[in-house]
Amino acid sequence: MFTSVIIPAAGFGERMGATIGKQFLLLNEKPILVHTLERFQSCDDINEIIVATQRSSFPIIEEIRKKYSLSKLKAPVEGGERRQDSVAKALKCVDAESEIISVHDAVRPFVRRKEITQSIETAKYFGASVVAVRAKDTMKQASTDGRVEKTLNRSSLWSVQTPQTFQRKILIEAYEFAFKNNIVATDDSYLVEQIGVLPIIIEGSYENIKITTPDDLLLAELLVKRFMP
Ligand code: CTP
Ligand code: MG
Repeated sequence: MFTSVIIPAAGFGERMGATIGKQFLLLNEKPILVHTLERFQSCDDINEIIVATQRSSFPIIEEIRKKYSLSKLKAPVEGGERRQDSVAKALKCVDAESEIISVHDAVRPFVRRKEITQSIETAKYFGASVVAVRAKDTMKQASTDGRVEKTLNRSSLWSVQTPQTFQRKILIEAYEFAFKNNIVATDDSYLVEQIGVLPIIIEGSYENIKITTPDDLLLAELLVKRFMP
């Protein structure tokens, strides 16, 4: 089944506070984005990779494609104001044959092959899947003024990551529904949940971090030394 992966990489990395987007920062002498792209390039279940990025970064993407022999990487798509807009734009550019679409953050270079393939297999049969890890900390719900309202049942709580994978029809319908109803989310599965599809959780790894702040970069430098895809 033809499978596409959309990699949103159009963010400015405000919380990282670097002079360039964090997806282009080097990790072991290679841009973080390249580590991520290599995970999907080497996965036989993936047929095409679509990166959404700022127009000014298009030449970098072209350069990366040649330098790292990323044959599955298609022409870049211009990103939008929010992550959701970037994914929506990329969604319009997936191959006409594509039946399964994965979405994976450019800044999660430590995704494992098993997570990608399980996510795809599950979406084929159940419509939607999300990679997630069990919450480690006890989670409390608090009011806006910081007073604890209740303690949540940790055994039912998950921290959701990417990849998140969907049957094409479901993801397109979810994005159209969100657009019409002004629904905003930082996670694709939330949009799918709004049209009544409940994604299946794939238990992933705590190493699949989203590099967000400078302390994540320190951790990534340790992880990259021993990472086994
Ligand atoms: N992203 C995107 N388009 C946007 C915003 C984010 O494609 N308009 C991408 C980022 O490049 C990143 C992923 O979505 O790969 C997850 O977003 P996040 O970690 O929030 O990255 P940034 O938005 O770059 O960081 P910040 O929120 O700190 O500015
Ligand atoms: Mg952001």
